[in-house]
Amino acid sequence: MLPVPRVGIVVVAAGSGTRLGAGGPKAFVGIDRHSILRHALDGVFAAPEAQVVIVAPEGREGDARTEALVAAGDRADLVSVVTGGPTRQDSVAAGLGALWGDVEIVLVHDAARALTPPEVFSRVIGAIDAGADGVIPVLPVIDTIKRVAGDEIVAAVDRAELAAAQTPQGFRRRVLDAAYAAATEDFTDDAALVAAAGHTVAAVPGHPLGFKITTAADLDRARHLLGASSAVALPRVGVGTDVHAFGGGGTLWLAGLEWPGEQALSGHSDGDAVAHAIVDALLAAAGLGDIGTHFGTDHPEYAGAHADAFLTRTTVLLRESGWRVGNVSVQVQANRPRFAARRVEAERALSDALGGAAVSVSATTTDGLGFTGRTEGVSAFAVALVVPV
Ligand code: CTP
Ligand code: MG
Repeated sequence: MLPVPRVGIVVVAAGSGTRLGAGGPKAFVGIDRHSILRHALDGVFAAPEAQVVIVAPEGREGDARTEALVAAGDRADLVSVVTGGPTRQDSVAAGLGALWGDVEIVLVHDAARALTPPEVFSRVIGAIDAGADGVIPVLPVIDTIKRVAGDEIVAAVDRAELAAAQTPQGFRRRVLDAAYAAATEDFTDDAALVAAAGHTVAAVPGHPLGFKITTAADLDRARHLLGASSAVALPRVGVGTDVHAFGGGGTLWLAGLEWPGEQALSGHSDGDAVAHAIVDALLAAAGLGDIGTHFGTDHPEYAGAHADAFLTRTTVLLRESGWRVGNVSVQVQANRPRFAARRVEAERALSDALGGAAVSVSATTTDGLGFTGRTEGVSAFAVALVVPV
């Protein structure tokens, strides 16, 4: 057995991102090819080895795990995912509950501070090792600050007395656990909660890249810093194929349509090879992995699902990464069913599921050759174009 790390990092990513207003939870919004959460985790996994607990929005735990496993590389055993709560403090508490027994130092980090460099984590851990009960990274305040009452300036505030707090905020585990157990009100951050419990909190230098992505302007800043604005300027293509054998239960579902009287295909979901080829092509075009990454056995909610569930979800994944569907062309190779009479209907069903993007469906037989020629199964081949939003 590998030794259990003495450091645990709780990454809170369960917020809704109201102020960013991207139409979905902030952690899954794309900065460039990768989401805010993925960038935050890249920093976390480049820091000294630690148990990493990701606190995800309810219903997005599987997606958080997918992101974490890619970022973790050979540290995948150190990843846990838990569900967040209505406030940040609830989410931190949920994360603390998942820490392993041997963890002695806890760092709490906002996923929204996606570009925080690993050196900040090392600095915080170092200050705890040097004896502090709690430590936070801070930056000097640049603006001149005034105390106001309504629209009247009451006093100038000496900037030297002020600092802007960042994360990761580090604590001895027993101090943080006890402070959370004793907390009866909501605090703005973990340092305030620990200070209210009577502990001293030290400061170490933060980093300008540790800014929090809160508004659309912050997201733009992150995109510019990563040089993403030029990288996303071009549309991209992807290909996808899928094959399913006849032999499933119930009626056939193919190209988003039900085909009464036709033999069903077998598969984890409804065996709709046309829809699955399109999903693979779209994910490939956007650089988001493949169908197994997002809809595999980790996601039991897709067992038995039809094309619309797969395709709608794929458009959300694309949008969160800064892409929309340009168009899709898909070809089916099958003896049965006969597509000619329902081709336009299939195109409409698939297009509706993709938010109205153009879909072309063509079908062919293979002159009696191969498994499709023997009517053993169906294969589909898709090409997709995605366009930066
Ligand atoms: N957070 C959380 N659970 C909550 C609220 C916030 O895990 N119930 C996390 C966010 O995901 C974020 C961090 O706490 O990483 C800082 O919160 P904030 O920047 O306020 O993010 P949101 O709450 O998502 O944004 P908003 O307040 O604009 O809705
Ligand atoms: Mg918030």
